[in-house]
Amino acid sequence: MQDSSSQLVIRRPDDWHVHLRDGAMLKAVAPATARVFARAVVMPNLKPPVTTVDQARAYRQRIVEAVPADVRFEPLMTAYLTDHIDPAELERGFSEGVFTAAKLYPANATTNSAAGVSDLSRISKVLERMEAIDMPLLIHGEVTDADVDVFDREAAFIESHLIPLRQRYPSLRIVLEHITTEQAVDFIRTESLAGDSRLAATITPHHLHLNRNAMFLGGLRSDFYCLPVVKRECHRRALVKAATSGLSCFFLGTDSAPHPRSGKESSCGCAGIFNAVHALESYAAVFEQEGALEHLQGFASEHGPRFYGLPLNNESLTLVKRQQTVPKTLEDSGLEAGEWPVLFHAGETLNWSVHVDGQAETN
Ligand code: NCD
Ligand code: ZN
Repeated sequence: MQDSSSQLVIRRPDDWHVHLRDGAMLKAVAPATARVFARAVVMPNLKPPVTTVDQARAYRQRIVEAVPADVRFEPLMTAYLTDHIDPAELERGFSEGVFTAAKLYPANATTNSAAGVSDLSRISKVLERMEAIDMPLLIHGEVTDADVDVFDREAAFIESHLIPLRQRYPSLRIVLEHITTEQAVDFIRTESLAGDSRLAATITPHHLHLNRNAMFLGGLRSDFYCLPVVKRECHRRALVKAATSGLSCFFLGTDSAPHPRSGKESSCGCAGIFNAVHALESYAAVFEQEGALEHLQGFASEHGPRFYGLPLNNESLTLVKRQQTVPKTLEDSGLEAGEWPVLFHAGETLNWSVHVDGQAETN
C-alpha cells in the first residue's frame, strides 16, 4: 500500500457479499461491482433461489456476460440452503469449484428468504458435511420470531443460534454477514482473539455511516431501509471501530442490494441499499475519519481472501483524493425509466474517487 495525502494505492479489493440480481437489473448493476472488485461472493436469493450446481453454473455465466469483457472479474457463487437441500449436491458443487460457500437464510428473515431454513436441526447433515469438507457457511443472523423486536433480532440470533451452532460444529468456517450490533462485534472479536480463526464477519458501508435516525429523517426514508435494519449510534460506533481495527476477523462485504424504485417506494417497501457504485469511496471516508487509512487494504483486500483460503489479488487500484458529488441514480437503458435504484450517498460529496488503471474515470 502506498499512501500520500493525495492518493492511496491499494491491492484490488473483493466484495464478500453482494446481490447482483438477474435479467435487466443484473446487466445494469454488475459492471459497477466488477469495475472495482476482482471477485464477489454473489448471493443466491433469486426467484427461484439458487439451490443446485446447474443453476449456479448458469447464473455465473449470466453474470460473466453482464460484465465488460476487458474487466477481470470472478463471481464466487453460493448455494441457498433450504430444509431439503441435499448434502451431496452441495459437496459436488464445492468440489467442482462452482459453489464457494452456502448461505443460510432463516426462513422469512429477509428478501426472497421464504424457502430458507425453518429450523437448524433440519440441516444438521448438511452442516456436518460442510464442516467435514471445509465449505464456508454464510449466515444472515437474525431470528424471525414475531415477539422479538426487529432491532434485537441479531443479538437474539447470536445467543440462541450462533453460540450453540459454534459449539456443535467447532471447525465449521462461518461468516456472520453484514453485522449491525456491538453484540456481534464483541462476539466475533472475542472468539477470534481466543484463537477461533474460522469465524469472521462482514461489514457494509451503510452500517458504518448510518444509525437508525436515517430511516426517519424528515419522513419515512425507504432508501435507508435494509436488513438487518440499521441500529442505534452506539452500534454504528462499535462497527466503525471493528472495521478500522486491523483485526483480520472483519472484512468487506457491501451487501449492495438493488431494488427497482417501485419496490422501494411503496407502502411496503423492500429492504436493501444499492451501494455498489461508490462502495470503496464510502469505506474510505470512514477509515479516513478514524485516521485508519492504513488498515483499509487489510479490510478490503486481504482479510477476506485469507479467510476463504484464496490468493490475494495482484492488481492494484488508486483512490484519488478528489471530491465527487454522488448523483441520485445512474441511467441505464436496460431498466424502465424511473426504475433505476437510488444510489447510496445520493446528493452527498465524497472525498475520494476510485481510479482503476486502464479504465476511464467515472468523474
Ligand atoms: C437483501 C436483498 O434485497 O436481497 N436485502 C437487504 O436489505 N440486505 C437481502 C439480505 O441480504 O438480507
Ligand atoms: Zn445481503
